Amino acid sequence: MMSKESLTGRERTFGAEEIIVSKTDLKGKITYANDVFIRVAGYTEAELLGRPHNSIRHPAMPRCVFELLWQTVHDGREIFAYVVNRCKNGDHYWVLAHVTPTFDAGGSIVGYHSNRRVPGREAIAMIEPIYDELLREERLYRTPKEQWRASLPVLVAKLENLGLTYEEFIFQTCS
Ligand SMILES: Cc1cc2nc3c(=O)[nH]c(=O)nc-3n(C[C@H](O)[C@H](O)[C@H](O)COP(=O)(O)O)c2cc1C
Repeated sequence: MMSKESLTGRERTFGAEEIIVSKTDLKGKITYANDVFIRVAGYTEAELLGRPHNSIRHPAMPRCVFELLWQTVHDGREIFAYVVNRCKNGDHYWVLAHVTPTFDAGGSIVGYHSNRRVPGREAIAMIEPIYDELLREERLYRTPKEQWRASLPVLVAKLENLGLTYEEFIFQTCS
């Protein structure tokens, strides 16, 4: 949707009472975007609907976080994750995302749903150096698969050192 070169380095925020909501199909194409998402990301609804969610991907996001996200929701479970996204004009905004699968009456996954709140400054300050370290590891490899396969164990080892699961880590930083 836009190139790396157009990043501005300017951060946008949104209200503590606001929730950025999107829904996707099974492949991650956006099927719903609420007004807060549209306003903060700076796109029109028409520009977002039908687009893959990686259209708003920011290069500061490690691949392994999205790998963990997809593995978890494919498995029918929910996940919380800190994500930095890119706005249409190249600004960025941090979110604490809660991503869940949506099931039909027969228990099959029919899509995914993400509710995002604004994270605390301390949480961002804690997560940024960790993401930087994961990105440094990923840059040593060429293909996306090689990259997340290299960085995911770094993330897991970091959490093991802290004696935390990924979920416990997220809750510790946002409480
Ligand atoms: C419900 C849902 C919401 C998502 N929200 C975002 C998001 O806000 N930003 C983002 O970069 N990726 C989001 N993703 C993950 C993307 O689908 C994709 O995996 C990620 O952007 C990495 O894309 P890439 O592997 O093509 O680089 C979401 C996925 C789902 C299922």
